[in-house]
Amino acid sequence: MNAKFSLLACLAVASASSPSWAQTVDPNLGRNMAANCANCHGTNGASVGGTAVLAGQSRETLVKALTEFREGKRPATIMHQLSKGYSNEQIALIAAYLSTQKSK
Ligand code: HEC
Repeated sequence: MNAKFSLLACLAVASASSPSWAQTVDPNLGRNMAANCANCHGTNGASVGGTAVLAGQSRETLVKALTEFREGKRPATIMHQLSKGYSNEQIALIAAYLSTQKSK
């Protein structure tokens, strides 16, 4: 009984992360995930403190930086840890959102 239930639960999770996920994605998802970056990189990535301004950086640059952090190819104190929490799709959405924002 229990085993059957957890198998169903697994299937539900697996289908939620299938490729069709990208087509049914919440249009605000990129913005919402980018809010996780605001504490350090400023609201919408428009940092006014010591951290890098992400707002307005190109999508390609942001994807490259985050992927390299995640793979341990770019030196980091914290970003190598944080970037591990995001899939390629999520990184693409965050980068797309931040690239359209204006820096202060
Ligand atoms: C706890 C603070 C913190 C949070 C939260 C944070 N960052 Fe960072 N970020 C840093 C620091 C510090 C660096 C400099 C590299 C390092 O030391 O890890 C950095 C560097 C970067 C860089 C490289 C910028 C450049 O121009 O070189 C990118 C891109 C980046 N962060 C994206 C993000 C994104 C996207 C998020 C949210 C998903 C995020 N960061 C959340 C602290 C943070």
